[in-house]
Amino acid sequence: MNTKFETITLDISGDIATLTVSREKSLNALNKQVHTDLKECLWQLRENADNLHGMIFTGAGEKAFIAGADIVEMSEMTAQQGYDFSVLGQQVSVLFEELPFPVIACVNGFALGGGCEMAMSCDFIYATETAVFGQPEVKLGLIPGFGGTQRLAKLIGRNKAKEIIYTGRNVSIDEAVDLGLVVKKFATQDEMLAAALKTLGQISRNSPLAINEAKQVMNQANDLTLAEGLRLEAERFSDIFGTAEMKEGTSAFMEKRKADFSVK
Ligand code: HXC
Repeated sequence: MNTKFETITLDISGDIATLTVSREKSLNALNKQVHTDLKECLWQLRENADNLHGMIFTGAGEKAFIAGADIVEMSEMTAQQGYDFSVLGQQVSVLFEELPFPVIACVNGFALGGGCEMAMSCDFIYATETAVFGQPEVKLGLIPGFGGTQRLAKLIGRNKAKEIIYTGRNVSIDEAVDLGLVVKKFATQDEMLAAALKTLGQISRNSPLAINEAKQVMNQANDLTLAEGLRLEAERFSDIFGTAEMKEGTSAFMEKRKADFSVK
């Protein structure tokens, strides 16, 4: 697997990947090259998913996770180029959502505009006390374009999302926790990364197949009525019956031992 990219770094340690946006001088702003690198990297991770059980997504440095889409690059775009840029970023966000293992966004500092949007396409968000969230696009004469109008509303409720998007104001870490945008806050970046690794380690002891099924059903539920979602849940629940992982999990319970899902 290629781990060399111009604007991002991918580290794999055992069964956990760490993907870092590395444009620290521009506060990790998302330009076309970052999205192109992310797209290529996420495709590769998807192809090699059998060896991976989780990923951390973060930004280089202490100051910013991602301070948004690259405003300098956007300022020169035509309407068609703006459309293409929005679609490219949205494709990246969907690739995060569709990875067959969990992704934790670890937010250090600013997560504004596209940064907040990319964090929301991960499974959940850990953040440090210095984290600042927001969708300030309207201050630039723009609207969110990497899924913010959709995902923020689904995550925290439409009217709270409208207030944040219309004002373009900063959302502090404590408010982000209250809103349910951030799952846990940490005093330092090191503590956050250690906790994220621990959580992914804990998750990886469970059935990878079941984790992936739960992830896909919960993500797809966003677009379904309750009745459709319940039908999907029952179908996917039945799909995992008879799999080696389901047999191992239930046998281990009855034999009063820990399940070992690495045995196929
Ligand atoms: C390009 C950026 C940038 C961005 C920061 N930089 N954010 N470059 N795009 N989004 C650059 C600065 O120009 C500066 O470069 C360097 O990073 C350090 O930033 P400073 O502004 O000097 O730092 P500070 O004063 O601490 O302010 C931090 C900040 C501010 C509050 C985060 O940088 C800021 O407001 N950035 C823009 C945030 C934003 O509006 N994001 C939403 C973008 S729109 P130099 O060369 O001067 O050192 C968006 C749309 C998504 O995300 C959808 C698109 C389809």
